Amino acid sequence: MIYILGIESSCDDTAAAVTLEDRLLSNVTANQDVHRNFGGVVPELASRAHQQNIIPVIQAAIKKANISKNQLSAVAFTRGPGLLGSLLVGISFAKSFSLGLRIPLIAVDHMQAHILAHFLREETTSRPPPAFPFLCLTVSGGHTQITVVKSPFDFQVIGRTIDDAAGETFDKAAKIMGLPYPGGPMIDALAREGNPGAFRFSKPAIPGLDFSFSGLKTSILYFLRDQLKQDPDFIEKNKADLCASIQSAIVDILIRKVRSAAELTGIKEIAIAGGVSANSSLREALYKAGSDANWNVFIPRLEYSTDNAAMIAITGYFKYLEKDFADLSAAPYARSSF
Ligand code: KG4
Ligand code: ZN
Repeated sequence: MIYILGIESSCDDTAAAVTLEDRLLSNVTANQDVHRNFGGVVPELASRAHQQNIIPVIQAAIKKANISKNQLSAVAFTRGPGLLGSLLVGISFAKSFSLGLRIPLIAVDHMQAHILAHFLREETTSRPPPAFPFLCLTVSGGHTQITVVKSPFDFQVIGRTIDDAAGETFDKAAKIMGLPYPGGPMIDALAREGNPGAFRFSKPAIPGLDFSFSGLKTSILYFLRDQLKQDPDFIEKNKADLCASIQSAIVDILIRKVRSAAELTGIKEIAIAGGVSANSSLREALYKAGSDANWNVFIPRLEYSTDNAAMIAITGYFKYLEKDFADLSAAPYARSSF
């Protein structure tokens, strides 16, 4: 019986989860509200909040799993990418815990974990996970990439953003409209009442499988600046239509590239992962594209889309089976290693 404790502290969520093999026993997340009024995550505040949250969150995860800490087989932690001060809190805790309990330590890459979240076995569905090789569009606050996943450890990135990430684009557009951070979920909610065809923004012309979002961001900024000159209440009056149109532009950019990647590779197992995969319009558009092109589409449950520790624990489980352990010299890294 392999029990893994997963710890995630790369950004502004402090999270812990326990798995028994590929089954999730508990999944606890403490969100940090302190950043709301700053328009983004404030690294120093995030580290402090992690310090306050980490012990209660881990205690809660072990308690909910209904096991004793002595039953744990290993402790897995996010090593990067992320904010160094935030990562250090999780890493230091994981190291002391593994030393105290005399169990192995497992270092996990956050982006790999977002993808491997698809392998968490659900009690409620008998649907198998994606078959290798599959394509994964990973879209988060810091990343936008298309990866060919050949095995749990063999990843090939075939497209990535050359400037902003998709989540960052949602967040920046929300900020321009005066909405609080994080803007993605807010735009998603407001867009439900709006018309996605109300406003048109410029689309990037980037060849191949790479993405670009900076032109879209600038086009939103200039459009709103011009409209506000004529009517200072323009945003307030058109909020739902603006959100729906911005969301539709971002989703369109993402889906086009996934389509190209599927055509180019011939792969029909298509997954999405990362915080932006929680977006209702992206989920819908992917299902639609999938049914048009005969893909097998895999969309994570909402709780495994945004940052969570369940994905760290399942990745830890895969690494445990390979005896891929870390030692006490493991240091955090800010940028992705693949
Ligand atoms: O994966 P994640 O939780 O953290 C990172 O690793 O970055 O992703 C966070 C990003 C944020 O930019 C947030 O605005 C976006 O995911 N996000 C969404 C939605 N929920 C979270 N974007 C669009 N629609 C959503 N429903
Ligand atoms: Zn993430």
